[in-house]
Amino acid sequence: MSLAKYTVTAALPYANGPLHLGHVAGVYLPADIFVRFLRLKGHDVAFICGSDEHGAAITLRAKKEGTTPQEIVDKYNAIIGKSFQDFNIGFDIFHRTSAEIHHQTSQDFFKVLYEKGKFTEETSEQYYDEEFQQFLADRYITGECPKCQNPSAYGDQCEKCGSALSPTDLKNPVSTLSGKTPVMRQTSHWYLPMQNHEEWLKEWIKDGKLDGVQQHNPKEWKNQVVGQCMSWIDGGLRPRAMTRDLDWGVKVPLPNAEGKVLYVWLDAPIGYISATKQWAQDNNKNWEDYWKGDRKLVHFIGKDNIVFHAIIFPILLKDHGDLILPDNVPAYEFLNLEGDKFSTSRNWAVWLHEYLERYPNKVDELKYVLTSIAPETKDAEFTWKEYQTRINSELADILGNFVNRALVLTNKYYEGAIPAAGNFTDEDQKVLDEVKAFPAKIESLLYAYKLRDAQAEAMNLARLGNKYLADTEPWKLVKTDPERVKTIMHIALQITGNLAVVLQPFLPNTAEKLKQALKLADTSWTKAGAIDIASVGTIIEQPGILFEKIDDSLVEAEIQFLKDAQVANKAFEPVKEEITFEDFTKMDIRLGTILEAEKVKKADKLLKLLVDTGIDKRTVVSGIAEHYTPEEVVGKTVQILLNLAPRKIKGIESQGMILMAENEKGELSFMAPEKGFGAGGDVR
Ligand code: MF3
Ligand code: ZN
Repeated sequence: MSLAKYTVTAALPYANGPLHLGHVAGVYLPADIFVRFLRLKGHDVAFICGSDEHGAAITLRAKKEGTTPQEIVDKYNAIIGKSFQDFNIGFDIFHRTSAEIHHQTSQDFFKVLYEKGKFTEETSEQYYDEEFQQFLADRYITGECPKCQNPSAYGDQCEKCGSALSPTDLKNPVSTLSGKTPVMRQTSHWYLPMQNHEEWLKEWIKDGKLDGVQQHNPKEWKNQVVGQCMSWIDGGLRPRAMTRDLDWGVKVPLPNAEGKVLYVWLDAPIGYISATKQWAQDNNKNWEDYWKGDRKLVHFIGKDNIVFHAIIFPILLKDHGDLILPDNVPAYEFLNLEGDKFSTSRNWAVWLHEYLERYPNKVDELKYVLTSIAPETKDAEFTWKEYQTRINSELADILGNFVNRALVLTNKYYEGAIPAAGNFTDEDQKVLDEVKAFPAKIESLLYAYKLRDAQAEAMNLARLGNKYLADTEPWKLVKTDPERVKTIMHIALQITGNLAVVLQPFLPNTAEKLKQALKLADTSWTKAGAIDIASVGTIIEQPGILFEKIDDSLVEAEIQFLKDAQVANKAFEPVKEEITFEDFTKMDIRLGTILEAEKVKKADKLLKLLVDTGIDKRTVVSGIAEHYTPEEVVGKTVQILLNLAPRKIKGIESQGMILMAENEKGELSFMAPEKGFGAGGDVR
């Protein structure tokens, strides 16, 4: 039987921000491991990725950064592309959906479906901004959430209560472009009548059959993927618009479609095909070989992408005809960070490109940790403490320690020449049998997308080696039985050679070091389990320390770094109701100098202040104790509201209020005057 051929894709990241470790652990690293393994086995593989450069995610980011969508996608395509390279992710191509070939490919694709009558045209009313003369994508509308009354929910979702919304659900909708109330206007779009596809989709997803022919083994699909798809289908599929009124995207290739572009979730997955075309062109290949015929298509994605890859794109592929449908859609759950969700807006994230700038030589370390905790079947969590523990007590103490002993002792005893073995003892034979058994276990886990267990199994080989040396103690035996030690070291080096093979998918840089150290000629997977992989007489080289231990100081610095970078998600309040000048002059605000300050007992936030106001001295209780110590505030001249009705706080009567400014991190600052102003000055 010939080996299956594969086209493997990794979800195209939006070019609207850099990648964080959650993206890496849940899409790109597993895809890379899987592909490296397939290549070692000798499968024909195309590994495709690129950036997703259309849709409101991009235009909104451009607006936020005060620039154009083109500049945004150029910037982030470069940052993301470079971080993939530095992280040694081995795509055949990292393409982009703004490329001409992509626009052409997705327009052709659309036309094929259009001409086959696969779309319906429907007219509906949608929100339109009259000032900006454009229809508003869901994300461009904010308003009050009907469920929780959050005043700034988005047209597609309320971030406060998490409800999925549509723009017409919002009360008092406002356009984020003009700040005005949008109007309803008629527009027509091309829809994919998904409801017509329910039957075959069910059979295909649940039984793996298409028109009665077995396509894939449904047992290989994750429960989570099948479950999410079935509940979507059982909820009833509805027509979904495949075009949008927007000026950023792939133009709808039809007459009378001015101002309309393809829906980003139509054009983006076609990006896999256009990227393949570009790669094929560059390498004298035919792209059709990768999308037609007897070949497995595998999409690595995060769980928020499931329905797009397992329902919508398959419908499009089938409607198009002639193209293969996915053989599997391995979807990952989410990774959390130090007890909280990764959040771009709050900057609660470890960014891949920043990690690589700080630790350019710790690529395999991060890969190892992320695979160990990969969110394969449930959400998982990254902490710097665990990063440290995994590196120190697994990579350094087990793998690094074993390899180091094997190589250092070989240098010491035999001037680096790999010794021949004498007779094997029963103990040796047992270890060698175990070595032979490893590859099959690792291999079946990898084919089953259980990459986390597969890596753990590969590490067990290092554990076996470590234990073998600890049990046989060649460093003691060398005085009394040097012949026996030759056999022991021979076996230790064969185990090291095997590690160079089986670690390749997970720790490619480390595996390469081992390969060079032992001068191995062939490390393809056929060599896994071979107990003559390292040739007798070869002079080995020292790779140096494989993994440096991680200090507590790194853990502390990283956690501090996270905290410092975090921006509290404090929305600035909208402008309050209008008041008259008379209203304003009712407030008696003056400068006052703080004379005394002390903490209020049993109240972490409060300071009791004695303030000289120029006309009197009064007591004010102020909620600033988390920001200022009593010593810091004594002597400061600040603004104070004098004619606020007195109130009792923790039993103390407060006769006024100190005015403070607050920033987006929730930090407070006094409103102090410039030099030459003291107590009693009027504030107007
Ligand atoms: N950009 C999308 C995301 O980050 C993924 C697109 S995958 C593709 O969620 F198939 F559409 F390309
Ligand atoms: Zn809400």
